[in-house]
Amino acid sequence: MSVTGTPLDRVDGIPKVTGRARYSADQTLPGLVHAVMVTSAIARGEIVAIDTAACERMPGVRLVLTPFNAPHLPKGGKAAADIPTAGHVMSLLQDTAVHYNNQPIAVVVADTLEQARDAARCLRVQYRQADAVLDFAQARTRARKPDEDESADSRRGDPDAGLRGAAAVIDAVYTTPMETHNPMEPHATLAAWDGDQLTLYDATQYVTGVRKAVAAAFGIAADKVRVICPYVGGGFGCKGSVWSHVVLAAMAARQVSRPVRLVLERTQMFGPVGGRPLTEQHVVAAAAADGALHALRHDVTTCTSTIEEWLESAALITRRLYACPNVQTSHRLVELDIGTPTFMRAPGEVPGSFALECALDELAERLGIDPVALRLRNHADTDPEKQLPFSSKSLRECYRDAAECFGWARRDPTPRSMHADGKLVGLGMATATYPTYRSPASAMVRLLADGTALVRSGSQDLGTGTYTVMTQVAADALGLPPARVRFELGDTAFPEAPVSGGSQSVASVAPAVQQAAAAARQRLIRQAVADTASPLAGAPVEDVEIVDGWLQRRSDPAQREPISAPIRRAGGRAIEARASARPGKERQAYSMHAFGAVFAEVRVDPELGEIRVHRVVARYGAGRLLNRKTAHSQLMGGIVWGIGMALHEKTELDLATGRVANANLAEYHIPVNADIGTIDVSVVDEDDPHINALGTKGIGEIGIVGVAAAIANAVYHATGRRVRDLPITLDKLLD
Ligand code: MOS
Repeated sequence: MSVTGTPLDRVDGIPKVTGRARYSADQTLPGLVHAVMVTSAIARGEIVAIDTAACERMPGVRLVLTPFNAPHLPKGGKAAADIPTAGHVMSLLQDTAVHYNNQPIAVVVADTLEQARDAARCLRVQYRQADAVLDFAQARTRARKPDEDESADSRRGDPDAGLRGAAAVIDAVYTTPMETHNPMEPHATLAAWDGDQLTLYDATQYVTGVRKAVAAAFGIAADKVRVICPYVGGGFGCKGSVWSHVVLAAMAARQVSRPVRLVLERTQMFGPVGGRPLTEQHVVAAAAADGALHALRHDVTTCTSTIEEWLESAALITRRLYACPNVQTSHRLVELDIGTPTFMRAPGEVPGSFALECALDELAERLGIDPVALRLRNHADTDPEKQLPFSSKSLRECYRDAAECFGWARRDPTPRSMHADGKLVGLGMATATYPTYRSPASAMVRLLADGTALVRSGSQDLGTGTYTVMTQVAADALGLPPARVRFELGDTAFPEAPVSGGSQSVASVAPAVQQAAAAARQRLIRQAVADTASPLAGAPVEDVEIVDGWLQRRSDPAQREPISAPIRRAGGRAIEARASARPGKERQAYSMHAFGAVFAEVRVDPELGEIRVHRVVARYGAGRLLNRKTAHSQLMGGIVWGIGMALHEKTELDLATGRVANANLAEYHIPVNADIGTIDVSVVDEDDPHINALGTKGIGEIGIVGVAAAIANAVYHATGRRVRDLPITLDKLLD
């Protein structure tokens, strides 16, 4: 009986609900002292002076680090930026320049958190202020091509020719605002030096990335840095890179010769650790009378900081989602005096799908074609951009299943035509997609004398189920019940694994765990058959299997012994195996993506404009699910976030100061339980023989893709009002 595929309860559930799970800010060490990061109050300029005298006199204060006394790092700490997905250009007190409001400019260390916080308020910072560029609408005339992305523009066929002779053309601009990740757990680092050896407990999606980036910042060898992160309280991309506070905590710890804990305040989560940049997306969609797409244009203008280039690749989805012969896309960047944006759950696909999938809805209406039929008419049977077959694709089934469960056939296409309980009813849909990534990963398995297995990989669990799913994979590969497998992660002392980003953890790490487990199992079997005291002595290796913790002969299962027996007879020495797994040539032969269909019903109050998402039905083709329970929970979380994106979320940059005006969870609106109606999510059976040994695609990000478009399309259907600017707040329905 396979454990993989069953809805096993989270193995980390009990430690979490009982408070035994220690997140980074919960970690402690003897002699621990506390750091508070001080951030800039201007968006652009120079720090002229910092008066630390009052601060240093405050009780318990041990250190005040500023640009005027901070130790110099090799290359100004910039070395870290060379490491992809690990480092950003950080603010490490190496100079006095201010590039955005809320930029780290000082660190105060004291015996208690309260003392540090209190003292930090006493710093007097004198600035020379310069004019900041904050208004995207004004600065967009200075939009430029990205320097670092050669694929920013694309063209296939002849879009202009495609536009001529089209039966319908939609030409519209869609915008999405800046958004901020806001995981429940703030970024937190505990840094401790032992001689030249640095240990970091850090809230991160990538322990190895932190190791490499911090080592590079200090100019020390990577093996001098150990990073530990057993639990992450939500990542969503903002913990996929290494930000200033991690290096600053280590710098402070070295200065005070004590372990230092630095936890970001919620306000400091808005700017110094990334966010989703705003986008302005011009879409032109042209089709024949039968709905066949003739041309698509998707031109994206988005923003980055002045210190670093980061691109939200919102038009990529338009290159590959539909079978359109003529497609042109571009990305342009506007530099603003803001913190550098970063990956945020399904970067690119999320804002991109809002624009593309709303435009298709508009096109369907213009042509008098059902929105689902329009998408089926343009279904891409092969990848239109890479000209490759898909490793698997179940999008047709997703449309069909979701439409049927949703009751799409009951939809009257006329806007404002459907009503319930005194509300306008709107039904809308959109397509979801996300690439399936995979990176090299490694794992080790140790079979112990007590009949249990210890399995380790330097991966991370963002709260999504890595612990649980890897336990299942190892249990099956070893022939053990899951209760006898302990899976450990989040430590650079373990075999290396990739960033838990791009929805790739399972596809990358599970094959390594499976291979390491298979190797350990083979070793144990060989040891048993060579052991004269074993009932399996002399048996052919192929005739021995492990079932439910028993070594037994396939030809005669009565000949058996517990797996612990041969290990004990050999003096109790554990049997260990390691394995590395990496993607192979299949990635050149196939295009690999997950797909889905999202249907939403909204209810809109005709007088007040209040919008409620009554229900969402979503179906996905995402390969094989290793755990239906954790997978559904992931997808559902993505949909909830999509509802937030559609109706609530917006990071409000104050154009006068560059300060985020709603840098807290009271004013940065996200959905609460009362905002969520029924969510019906499931995954269609999809057998993908090419993608990896387990047939799995990622599910971490696809859940949020398309949701905002489905809701915007439903709002249009309910009200007749096409809102192209997120979030769809009620004022946009009332004017
Ligand atoms: Mo995710 S935005 O790739 O961490």
